[in-house]
Amino acid sequence: MTVLRSVVLGCGHALPAHRMTNAEIATRVDTSDEWIVERTGINARHIAAKDETTSVLATRAARAAIENAGIEASSIDLVILATATPDFTFPATATQVQAALGITQGAAFDLQAVCSGFVYAMTTADKFLISGSHKRALVIGAETFSRILDWEDRTTCVLFGDGAGAVVLEAQPGAGEIADRGILSTHLRADGRHLDKLYVDGGPSTTATTGHLRMEGKEVFRYAVTFLAEVIEAAFKATGLTAADIDWFVPHQANRRIIDATARKLGIDPAHVVLTVGDHGNTSAASIPLALSTACADGRIKKGQLVLIEAMGGGFTWGSALIRW
Ligand code: ACO
Repeated sequence: MTVLRSVVLGCGHALPAHRMTNAEIATRVDTSDEWIVERTGINARHIAAKDETTSVLATRAARAAIENAGIEASSIDLVILATATPDFTFPATATQVQAALGITQGAAFDLQAVCSGFVYAMTTADKFLISGSHKRALVIGAETFSRILDWEDRTTCVLFGDGAGAVVLEAQPGAGEIADRGILSTHLRADGRHLDKLYVDGGPSTTATTGHLRMEGKEVFRYAVTFLAEVIEAAFKATGLTAADIDWFVPHQANRRIIDATARKLGIDPAHVVLTVGDHGNTSAASIPLALSTACADGRIKKGQLVLIEAMGGGFTWGSALIRW
């Protein structure tokens, strides 16, 4: 029987020009390179200039992905942009990216699941593509978290950065075997009871302001490893694959210690983990596509390899996806 599968055609990313080191952050708040590296694994993050908006970074990443895929932008009929930091409250930033790319067909919308946004967006695109309703999807994660940080709060401002990454997916017919290319399985979760642990204290219908990020770091850490392990085990159960089959584990890049603990719990070999948190910090929905694009560009991720992505973020929301690249 022939089935449709969402196959990756290409990926790309974009980072703001300014790379802010831990030493530079230590000139603004009472912190140190030693504290940040030991607790998070972060050495630096990129911070967007005024004119480097979420749509600007997203468009740069999208152009790179489209070029890498070797397709015409006009053939894309679905644009999904995962972000918690849109250019405007409305319209969706995805529509600005669509216009900048000269796409005038199909659908374009933003998706808000904070740090899990890219996993949610890949899952959503997959559902559109395998249904046969759309043929080519541009899935983007793009953020300018520096705009919603409280730059006087050392417990949060040292953790985050700005950037964007994008992936082009195409619906392709095939036998649907586990060895065939494409998205093999996706698993999404949410539990809204955890609002107070990670949120932004403003918004259009509450304060009519943008607000600042607030987080109980220890609490987030406590839940993250358990929740992420469960959703990865769900992916293994659904596909019959195991940790030993994973060529590349590309987790949301929140914190090196969460990544190490999750890999250890699942028995994933550290040599198969893609780590970009050191140079990017936590870029929320952009972190996975930034890491994917980095590892494709340097030749680590190759066609046919098995890639596992996962993320957890505000809400809480969390999820995983297994992709035969
Ligand atoms: N520099 C120096 N000292 C600091 C800093 C800083 N930037 N931030 C906090 N401290 C101090 C605290 O004030 C505290 O001092 P005290 O003992 O005198 O009170 C001490 O360091 C320890 O603070 P803790 O909050 O207990 O530090 P912890 O070891 O928990 O590390 C961290 C904090 C890094 C935030 C950790 O809890 C964490 O990684 N949590 C996960 C959160 C996360 O990654 N969130 C990302 C968003 S969600 C997601 O993407 C999954």
